[in-house]
Amino acid sequence: MRPDGEKSGKISVMEAPPCPLEPCLSADALRGRRVAVVGYGNQGRAHALNLRDSGIDVRVAGRPGSDARGRAASDGFGTLDTRMAAGQSDLVILALPDEVHAEVWAHDVAPVIQAGQVAGFIHGSSIHFGLVRPGAGIGIVMVAPKGPGTTLRARFQQGQGIPALLAVQQERDAAGGDPSAHALACAWAAGIGCGRAGVVRTSFEAEAVTDLFGEQAVLCGGMMGLAQAAFETLVEAGYPPLLAYTECVHEIKQVADLLYARGPAGMRRAISNTAEFGTYRAAPLIADEHVRTTMRRLLDEIRSGEFTRRMQSDHDAGATWFRAAREAAAAHPMERAGAEVRALMPWLEAEGHA
Ligand SMILES: NC(=O)c1ccc[n+]([C@@H]2O[C@H](COP(=O)([O-])OP(=O)(O)OC[C@H]3O[C@@H](n4cnc5c(N)ncnc54)[C@H](OP(=O)(O)O)[C@@H]3O)[C@@H](O)[C@H]2O)c1
Repeated sequence: MRPDGEKSGKISVMEAPPCPLEPCLSADALRGRRVAVVGYGNQGRAHALNLRDSGIDVRVAGRPGSDARGRAASDGFGTLDTRMAAGQSDLVILALPDEVHAEVWAHDVAPVIQAGQVAGFIHGSSIHFGLVRPGAGIGIVMVAPKGPGTTLRARFQQGQGIPALLAVQQERDAAGGDPSAHALACAWAAGIGCGRAGVVRTSFEAEAVTDLFGEQAVLCGGMMGLAQAAFETLVEAGYPPLLAYTECVHEIKQVADLLYARGPAGMRRAISNTAEFGTYRAAPLIADEHVRTTMRRLLDEIRSGEFTRRMQSDHDAGATWFRAAREAAAAHPMERAGAEVRALMPWLEAEGHA
């Protein structure tokens, strides 16, 4: 609140309300129904395998003759074309890169999907930003596990789960007594093991915006920007690239593991007093008003849909900007230094990290 009692539109960090949890404990609502997972990549494989191990009848769909369908078939799945899956399934899960949702929906899903069926998403952008515009009566739901597919699968096999976000954009026209789209989404979350951890109810908008912002501001964009700038600062000052890489990139894992398992205060308790003293000195200097202004700009670009439009139009024009940026990043001297550091840890490959 502003001092004059008017709402400012901002919530203080201290006043923010907790998130509602959904008790998604059973996959029963999906039993005896037809489920198709379209795409068999990072997320798709884990969703398909976990659902099958939960007793759900799952088929895997994709492009005819694609590598993905070959991998799914060798994991014992029946495979089919995307259009057939979209026409025949009670729940069709789009485990596809976000930039192909619009074309796959337009060519293979929209012509055959009917009111009463449910389309499932793993990230909210394509629906929230209007790249996919489903017709009335089709259930539109999202289950977004908060981790990569390999972790989703590994935790499931250990009898555990990872948290997920769940949202319902549009309910389905269900015949009397049939489960709602919401109930099917809850069963999907349970079937992949996320109900064993926690399923947080949210909206497509909140998931899309916070997910894109987190990966740009911190996890991928912010972290890589800081790591690269720090690496270059040390090397320009005459320090060996191997040392610069070890201190500014390689050791991110140690700190990230502590944050993941113990939270910020637990991480600070585990690091040396010297590192903690340096944290209090450096953090406000680095995350200064200029950085906050940049973060607000990124958030504005994401919320307005500008980021999604920019990515989609680059994809539609052959992904020339994306490919050039990827090549430039791969040619950075950090890569050579990183290879030298990893060569000192031959056990990485044996443990399946390479
Ligand atoms: N990766 C993550 O950790 C993560 C985490 C949370 C949410 N998500 C969300 O999960 C969804 C899937 O992402 P992902 O990272 O799992 O994707 P991915 O690993 O890149 O998987 C892509 C799959 O889609 C297929 N594919 C690509 N283009 C296609 C097309 N035009 N038509 C049909 N199939 C096509 C690929 O098969 P072929 O190329 O062999 O045909 C492959 O099986 C996205 O919405 C993403 O935002 C991902």
